[in-house]
Amino acid sequence: MSDTIKYGVIGAGVMGQEHIQNINIIENAEVVAVCDTNERSRKQTKSLVKESTKFYNDLNELISSNIADAYIIATPNFTHINILEQILKTNKHLLIEKPLCTTTDDCKKFELLSKDYSKIIWTGMEYRFMPPVKHLIDEVHKNIIGKIRMLSIREHRFPFLQKVDDWNRFSINTGGTLVEKCCHFFDLMRLVIQSEPVKVYASGNQDVNHLMEQYDGKTPDIIDNAFVIVDFENGVRGLLDLCMFAENSEHQEEIVAVGDIGKIETFVPSSASGENSSNVRIGFRKDNVTKSNEVKVDKEILAAGYHHGSTYFEHLAFINAIQNNSPPQVSLRDGLMSVAIGEAAEISIKENRVVFMEEFKL
Ligand SMILES: NC(=O)c1ccc[n+]([C@@H]2O[C@H](COP(=O)([O-])OP(=O)(O)OC[C@H]3O[C@@H](n4cnc5c(N)ncnc54)[C@H](O)[C@@H]3O)[C@@H](O)[C@H]2O)c1
Repeated sequence: MSDTIKYGVIGAGVMGQEHIQNINIIENAEVVAVCDTNERSRKQTKSLVKESTKFYNDLNELISSNIADAYIIATPNFTHINILEQILKTNKHLLIEKPLCTTTDDCKKFELLSKDYSKIIWTGMEYRFMPPVKHLIDEVHKNIIGKIRMLSIREHRFPFLQKVDDWNRFSINTGGTLVEKCCHFFDLMRLVIQSEPVKVYASGNQDVNHLMEQYDGKTPDIIDNAFVIVDFENGVRGLLDLCMFAENSEHQEEIVAVGDIGKIETFVPSSASGENSSNVRIGFRKDNVTKSNEVKVDKEILAAGYHHGSTYFEHLAFINAIQNNSPPQVSLRDGLMSVAIGEAAEISIKENRVVFMEEFKL
């Protein structure tokens, strides 16, 4: 393998194109192949890559070409499991967009199938790589707030965008909102808290969004607001506050962790604001002491996507793992656990009960 990592991108819609734009600004990386079943997506992507980049509409042709060192899987959630089963034949490095699969059972199936896979399998949990979020995580792990007791994450944003063939309007395709979108936040909870979930209780509904839409005579069935509480083995409590009819919120995400000696908080600016700076603020319980750090993202990096620079930093870490033969920073197990917590929250709402994680036999 040369020093330049050659990527093959499978699925070149919104997220596949964001990956390409970020790879384009990394020196030792290039996109050599793109595979997408949709002509419009292939056309849109042509303007983002070099003329020499090969285009495919069939996964088997991409696999046979054998020209990439690493594949990004950025197709709709429900397609992941079949694509993953096929891609395991290649023995190339894999960066799989979240959610790993739409169900915990499919994640477990993939975990089993890939147990002897010798290359990197990395789940695309990019919130970990957002600079202000990363800063907060590092501070919590340095015990700046003492022993963490509570973590709350709020996402108040606009509704789901329109996707190719409207796949994201139905839970059967996405896993449900609390899997599809919120696996990011459950992953952050496990990472910040450094413990495994024990039980999940949630309240939520589809109250406002997509109720007037129809696809082949069916109305979308995706939750647009929820509170989800997750209790962890080490006694820490996590809370997710999700609202997807909150356009024009001051911040898209807010994260607050409270420990026995202090509280740390930060936010992620909404991508529409173009704002590139966040404060990470720490308030100590004693003596009225506060500390604040400004965390900035370079404007070129910010402009290469909708996720506050995180896709860029995710690729730097992915490439670093490939080149140093080191384990993935976001493992398949991390991907699986984030889906399992999301699925538990969906079940909790549907069945109006507490869901114990042991029910998933993880
Ligand atoms: N990490 C993040 O924050 C983030 C953000 C957005 C989307 N995503 C994830 O990325 C994935 C793609 O989402 P999106 O927003 O780009 O959707 P999208 O609909 O914009 O794009 C999906 C693309 O995949 C193509 N496709 C479908 N089936 C295919 C197949 N079998 N082989 C090849 N191409 C195929 C479609 O034609 C389309 O171009 C999803 O898993 C989604 O959850 C992650």
